[in-house]
Amino acid sequence: MKIAVLTSGGDAPGMNAAVRAVVRSALYEKMGAFAVYDGYKGLCENIIKPMKHSDVSSILDKGGTILGTSRMPDFNLKKVKQRAIDNLRSHGIDVLITIGGDGTFMGAKGLHDMGFPTIGIPASIDNDIDGTDFSIGFHTALKTVVENIDKIKDTSSSHQRASIVETMGRKKGDLALYAGLSTGAEFIITPENIIDKNLIIETLKKKKEEGRRNAIIVVTENILNVHEFANEITEKSGFTCRATVLGYVQRGGSPTPEDRILAARMGEYAVKLAANKTFGVKVLVNHDEISAKPFGHTSKRDNFDNLKELFDLVPKIS
Ligand code: F6P
Repeated sequence: MKIAVLTSGGDAPGMNAAVRAVVRSALYEKMGAFAVYDGYKGLCENIIKPMKHSDVSSILDKGGTILGTSRMPDFNLKKVKQRAIDNLRSHGIDVLITIGGDGTFMGAKGLHDMGFPTIGIPASIDNDIDGTDFSIGFHTALKTVVENIDKIKDTSSSHQRASIVETMGRKKGDLALYAGLSTGAEFIITPENIIDKNLIIETLKKKKEEGRRNAIIVVTENILNVHEFANEITEKSGFTCRATVLGYVQRGGSPTPEDRILAARMGEYAVKLAANKTFGVKVLVNHDEISAKPFGHTSKRDNFDNLKELFDLVPKIS
């Protein structure tokens, strides 16, 4: 059997560890291992090369993805996917393992539906993939966000200011929620937890009167204009407020041990699925157990109730 691996969509720390695990597990099983460069774009351009054991040396601790990545909206076109399949077949490749998020899995499902075997490994800092408790990269991004908020809190407290910090996350609030709880944020605003602006301002006013020296508000991207809201807080609450958009710093950096281990486990599991001819599935982790479900599977994540419990904590302990 010949296995190819690609990374696609927004990069996530730990993608390299997953590529390494796929290539080495495949070689261990005496399969052929191939890499597709630059995601689906590279697949359509036939940038596919055989991989040796040493081709994935010294990448375990590296952020980003050595294979490169891309976003390719055109990949939803059937004729584009057909070109991808023709390219894979021209190398004699039997199965494609795709490492990425939702968009990546949509592409992989499309290939599978057109008769080409695929398997998905979830990697996204947003932690927004249905059915898995965690995706590769989330814990590293969380660590970066927490380190940055800790620093913002130092200066915020020295100046007796309030600070708004915007995290990534697209349509999921996990990064903001976990980071907000880890840093004792007063408010955590996410797509699942929209908070009335006036309530925030009134509460901050009260906290200021009580002598609070700083306040942190963590918010997921695409919900509000953090700079405008910071000005409003400054005008109405008694706190001078500054906004920080963390941006792409969240996607870089060396993966944490948690992400490296998750990537190793998921990569090896994906190769095992291929050996057993189980295709059209995504690899998941639930309660620390690795499993796989069809791409279309959309169950609530097992930790969803836990998330609600975490949101409820915030007003009680901040
Ligand atoms: O999906 C990962 C992510 O970093 C999101 O958090 C963010 O909304 C998006 O990618 C940014 O994408 P781009 O790299 O295309 O600007």
